[in-house]
Amino acid sequence: MAETNELMNPGSIGNITAELLENAKPFLELMMQNECALRELETKLNVLNDEFSTIYNYNPIESIKTRVKDPMSIVEKMNRKGVPATVENIEKTLNDIAGVRVICSFPEDIYAIADILSTQDDITIISRKDYIANPKPNGYRSLHLIVGIPIFLSTGKKIMKAEVQFRTIAMDFWASLDHKLKYKHNINNAEEISAQLRECAEAINDIDYRMQEIRNRIERESR
Ligand code: GTP
Ligand code: MG
Repeated sequence: MAETNELMNPGSIGNITAELLENAKPFLELMMQNECALRELETKLNVLNDEFSTIYNYNPIESIKTRVKDPMSIVEKMNRKGVPATVENIEKTLNDIAGVRVICSFPEDIYAIADILSTQDDITIISRKDYIANPKPNGYRSLHLIVGIPIFLSTGKKIMKAEVQFRTIAMDFWASLDHKLKYKHNINNAEEISAQLRECAEAINDIDYRMQEIRNRIERESR
């Protein structure tokens, strides 16, 4: 069989492929471990949502999205940071290879879920950035946690880092449009568009808290 011969014949294409795969192994391993960290986090969040749903008949989490950063974005970010993209460096430098986005209906739910997650005894909080209380100048709002979370491999426990972004549905709506603006270059009237987006961010924030107030009132007034 041609494939077998190629693999056994030094310098052949098969050999190069085998070598590439061998070199890629530590990277693929890191990606797999990040996938595992995401599964652990997603389970924790689903457990909380199920519990709220059973006890209070209410789902604080609308949806959960997870993603492992794609290899091109990893290399691009390492270049941006001026650090050679070895597997060891990637693991040390980047906090967001594993990313979770938690979409809630109301700001209160964001803080409630983030606080409960933060106090679980296998989770460590590496950093917490509250862009809801302190929005970015462009109007961006979300609560960001960098967490440490253990995964259990055959070789033992390994602590993985992950970025967890909490937003309301409306903040998420805003962020996707803002993301579009970020990735378009040479855009006409960019300043004016940014100003419009900033205004929308304020309006969205206002609506988020008004809706929350109404939700709470419905709770208080219900018999
Ligand atoms: P970086 O990942 O290098 O940006 O690290 P950082 O320490 O600056 O993190 P930061 O908390 O600013 O942002 C991390 C992630 O939040 C980004 O990768 C985006 O997914 C999201 N984010 C931050 N700022 C914005 C923004 O202005 N607009 C949108 N749409 N998303 C943002
Ligand atoms: Mg940033």
